[in-house]
Amino acid sequence: MSLKEQIDVTRLPAHIAIIMDGNGRWARQQGKNRIFGHRSGVQSVRETSEACAELGVKYLTLYAFSTENWSRPHTEVTALMTLLLKTINGELKTLLKNDIRLGAIGDLDTLPKSVAKELRQSIERTAHCQRMQLTLALSYSGKSELLRAVKQIALKFQQGEIGMHELTEQLITDNLYTAGMPDPELLIRTSGEKRISNFLLWQLAYAEFYFTEIFWPEFTKEELYKAILEFQNRERRFGKTSEQLTTK
Ligand code: IPE
Ligand code: IPE
Ligand code: MG
Repeated sequence: MSLKEQIDVTRLPAHIAIIMDGNGRWARQQGKNRIFGHRSGVQSVRETSEACAELGVKYLTLYAFSTENWSRPHTEVTALMTLLLKTINGELKTLLKNDIRLGAIGDLDTLPKSVAKELRQSIERTAHCQRMQLTLALSYSGKSELLRAVKQIALKFQQGEIGMHELTEQLITDNLYTAGMPDPELLIRTSGEKRISNFLLWQLAYAEFYFTEIFWPEFTKEELYKAILEFQNRERRFGKTSEQLTTK
């Protein structure tokens, strides 16, 4: 049986989040520059999105650029922004064809105007799509997202719109960029690094983490299937005992 056939489609993670890492190291291994790695990574984005949509995963969130990534050499940042612009533009047709809705989380105001505009247009043009939501985390920081939520809530509190008893976990959830989305159940990080790098700090509270040595440009549909199969083999206890889960 192929890996894909082994997946139980009735127990898919509703939301998969991916830290796409290792483009630079992969390119260096090939004797190429880092930008070549980023360009090659686009194919993995395509494959992963398509595989998720085909399986029936409803939300896919990809960490494409962190606020910390602004500290990279200027040439790399510029190349990444150019690639982003080209990719968002070039993939619109495919998104529409595959009925995939585009979304974005992060401090989008800090992106170059051309990128922000293209992004907004593609988000609007795909707003009616139903099969899956593909969210790009751009200029994203989990801590900033939480701070932003706290500020929004504080303002409502100050203005008397909400009281102390309305300060709930749900209220925080509702004030994040990801409001309305289920939390990721599976987090994948490529390239062998085992850290969260300021990604979805609140939303990953109970996600299963899957780490692979594979560099992002090498990530294929088969690699995604492996991650989902491992997810399906794990026992998600949510604080309970194993016995409680089996004797429901
Ligand atoms: C991930 O690959 C892409 C971005 C962070 C934009 P890297 O560029 O981090 O590649 P490595 O980790 O240096 O190999
Ligand atoms: C995390 O990768 C951010 C993205 C994948 C966009 P990095 O390569 O920037 O992470 P660190 O700095 O090694 O933790
Ligand atoms: Mg990296």
